[in-house]
Amino acid sequence: MSLQTATSIDDLRLMAKRRVPRAFFEYCDRGSYAEETLEANRADLKALKLRQRVMVDVSNRSTATTIIGQPAALPLVLAPTGLTGMQYADGEILAARAAEKAGVPFCLSTMSICSIEDVAAGTSKPFWFQLYVMKDRGFAQSLVERAIAAKCSALVLTVDLQVQGQRHRDIKNGMTVPPRITLANLVDIATKPDWALRVLRGKRKTFGNLDGFVKGMTGVKSLGQWISGQFDTTLNWNDVAWIRSLWPGKLIIKGVLDVGDAKAAAATGADAIVVSNHGGRQLDGAPSSISALPRIVDAVGGETEILFDGGIRSGQDVLRALALGARACMVGRAFLYGLGAGGEAGVAKTIDIIAKELSVSMALTGRRTIAEIDETVIDRG
Ligand code: FNR
Repeated sequence: MSLQTATSIDDLRLMAKRRVPRAFFEYCDRGSYAEETLEANRADLKALKLRQRVMVDVSNRSTATTIIGQPAALPLVLAPTGLTGMQYADGEILAARAAEKAGVPFCLSTMSICSIEDVAAGTSKPFWFQLYVMKDRGFAQSLVERAIAAKCSALVLTVDLQVQGQRHRDIKNGMTVPPRITLANLVDIATKPDWALRVLRGKRKTFGNLDGFVKGMTGVKSLGQWISGQFDTTLNWNDVAWIRSLWPGKLIIKGVLDVGDAKAAAATGADAIVVSNHGGRQLDGAPSSISALPRIVDAVGGETEILFDGGIRSGQDVLRALALGARACMVGRAFLYGLGAGGEAGVAKTIDIIAKELSVSMALTGRRTIAEIDETVIDRG
């Protein structure tokens, strides 16, 4: 299979699986503990049936919209994902470029391989920056200042990972901070020489935003241990005011699944919240994101924009989430599979597949514009 013959996100996943070393592929692909929430994200989306409508003039269709007031060609955002530069060398820059060309926002993670400055230098339009708050508040503040200097167009505060949900595969694969090539992984990497050559030639081999911060660590730790040591578990709603005082631009709170939390998030005056369970990577046993979406839209949809993520693998899935009240969807794995499959062209392919699926599915449900997508798109039988 090649990028030309790939027709679905599943195809890109298979290509990525062949090209990316197992430790990094599984870091992307898998979830926490028994992966019940990871599975529920997909299963509950699939269970929502779309209502076929016919004999509507759908000759003029548009997927254009705005997200937090910013124009977008599609109701889609590339989600913040850690270690993206390990799926493909310079992955963050390449994904940001693909997003820029397609007219959708790209969100850079705190835990990225390429730094804020690397991505700013490699792109020409503003991108979003995602913040994890560390115990060292001065360091968190410096990240926000760097995002301001890089002219980032939104700050995404992730609130669902002050401790890490254990991902069994990462432990078995020896994922460490900074990423380390173990003997066990060497054989696997030897079968993926293209990946290895690109990473060796790439800009970075370790977390670009955390230079100095990571160097201060004693010895190599598992990702989970490192996070427990560094991330600030005292983080609470009062801290949003502190972040607001540092960041003058658009603020998005990511990782809300509960109505009470959604109300608290909206009360901070955030421009949007992301209904998310971190792609089934944190609290295993939590409900699927899509099952939580309607009640959160009911509770705070009038006050703040509601973004959604968790399990989106197609344009049909985007349509489902929009029907239940999401303004736009973030995709994590869907774009990472494209990246692993073929770098910038692979991410462009991900966006193109989802865009075409969305446009066709809008036509087949009788909708011409994003504004025409509402609850009646879902077939309740
Ligand atoms: C993530 N996610 C994430 N979120 C975040 O706020 N900061 C981060 O650094 C990361 N890192 C990360 C790495 C990888 C490999 C994945 C798959 C996900 C969560 C991400 O932003 C998003 O919430 C989920 O990926 C959405 O689910 P899907 O689209 O992957 O099913």
